[in-house]
Order: sequence, then structure tokens, then C-alpha cells
Amino acid sequence: MFKKEKRKSWRSVQSPFIFNLARHLEAGSRYVDERVVADEVESNKIFKNIENLRADLKRSTDTIAVEDHGAGSRVFKGSSRKVRKIAKHVLQGERVAKSLWKVLKFWGMDLEEKDKRQLSVLEMGTSLGVTTAYLSSAGCDVETWEGCQNTADFARNNWIKLGLEEKIVSKVGKFEGLLKSTKGGWDMVFLDGHHDGEATLRYVEELKSKLGKGGCVLVDDVVWSKGMKMAWRQLLDDPYWNVTVRWRGKGWLFHIGGAVEQHIALSCVFKF
Ligand SMILES: C[S@@+](CC[C@H](N)C(=O)[O-])C[C@H]1O[C@@H](n2cnc3c(N)ncnc32)[C@H](O)[C@@H]1O
Repeated sequence: MFKKEKRKSWRSVQSPFIFNLARHLEAGSRYVDERVVADEVESNKIFKNIENLRADLKRSTDTIAVEDHGAGSRVFKGSSRKVRKIAKHVLQGERVAKSLWKVLKFWGMDLEEKDKRQLSVLEMGTSLGVTTAYLSSAGCDVETWEGCQNTADFARNNWIKLGLEEKIVSKVGKFEGLLKSTKGGWDMVFLDGHHDGEATLRYVEELKSKLGKGGCVLVDDVVWSKGMKMAWRQLLDDPYWNVTVRWRGKGWLFHIGGAVEQHIALSCVFKF
């Protein structure tokens, strides 16, 4: 018997921890922590630069010879991929990236004085580096992994254009190998590549020992395929992940000591 998620809007979430997550993901500015709103205004210039870059990528005539270590694609055939198609179909959109930025900002600001530090974030799946740029501009230490050297080189070039290249650690290799060699300590891992159910379960299992205290995993595309849906159900059934939040086709996994077990499917407010 698989565990069921409770559908809730961000407003109806009772647990303060999940409420704070949910409102930064879904609520309008007037319901978001005011320090985050102030920083969002200050960060407008970098957001504009990132979105201008995204627009350029969507018009680009470049191609990348890719090495695909993922679960295949519904959009691409062959190994030569048009950058404009990658930009249109593969990357997280602006709204999702900004929601992640807000959550990370809030978590960073909400740390107790004695725990104050830059949050460390791992993105598994760099692609053109657009979401990486948002994660980095949230003031986090960001490391990002990509299996395809040409794609990683392309992303680095994008960070140079944004002036972010010094801040981002980029590693090239397959997730499996990189996971074995990382010491970890991540506050958040965004698993945004290799959307295959069995591979996802293996990576998430490995990540349990690689998260810092209170760290979490965000898995992309948990309803993308039959295999991914099955993987998500198995993750819900794993007692280790006592708090889960499904949001816009992605799943947040938390292991929170002393928390009441909760599995929430967050209703979406905005059309993204
Ligand atoms: C969906 S894209 C990432 C999008 C990016 N996070 C963004 O929103 O801007 C997934 C990337 O993961 C890489 N990838 C997929 N499976 C991989 C694996 N097993 N090891 C390493 N990289 C992988 C692909 O080459 C692809 O560029």
C-alpha cells in the first residue's frame, strides 16, 4: 500500500517549516518574508541579465555535440543538439528558478546566528547553466555536475558572461562516479538530470549520507514517466523521508528529526 499525499494550498499548511517553504515557492510578494522581498528587488539586475541570456540562448544558432548519460529525450534525436531547443525544452523556467532562489534566500536568512553560513547547494545536471546562475545568485556555494564536457564548457561561457564563473564549481562526469567521490555536506541537492526511476532511487539512496544536517533533496520530474512515478511512490514509502512536498512535478525530500510525518502535494497558484 503506497502512502497518500494530502493536497494543500500554501495557505493551509500548518507546519511552520513547510509553510515557509510553500509560501516562498508559491505565494505572491506580499506573503513572502520581507527580507527576501528586499533582496529580490536588489537582485533585479542579475535576474534581468540571466533572463536576457536565456532569451539569447533561445535565439541561438549554435549546436552542441552532446554526450547523453540521461534517460533519453522526448525532444531530441541524435547527438548534435540545437542550443535554442535545449533552452526552450530542457531548462527550468524563470518562475521555478526564482522560487528556488527565494527558498534558498529565506533558509539562509533564517539560520540562527550560531549557524550562520553560506548554504551549500549541489545541482546534478548543469545543462546550459541557467538555473545554476540563479542558485549562485541566491548567495549559496554552488557546485554543479554535468556528464557532457561540451555542455559544461558552454555553461561556463554563460557564467563568464554573467560574471559568476568564479563563484560556481563545475564538475564533469557521470553522477554515479561523482557521488562516490563527494564528501557531501550539502544543504540542498537539486537532482535535475537522468530522469530514470531506478537511477533516481540509487542516487537518492546515496545522497542520504551526503547531506548536511537538515539537508534536503529536490527531485525533478517525479511524474515525467511511469518509472519516475513509481520511484516517487517508493520514496514516499521510505520512512527516512518523513516530510515530503510535491510541487510542480518536483518532489522535495526532508529527513527532519522529531517532525510529524507529512506528505503534501502543494496546489499551484500561478500559471508558470
Ligand atoms: C534537465 S538538464 C539540467 C537543466 C538545468 N538544471 C537547468 O535547469 O538549467 C539535465 C542535464 O543533466 C545531464 N545528465 C543527465 N544524466 C546524467 C548523468 N547520469 N551523469 C551526468 N550528467 C547527466 C545532461 O547532460 C543534461 O545536460
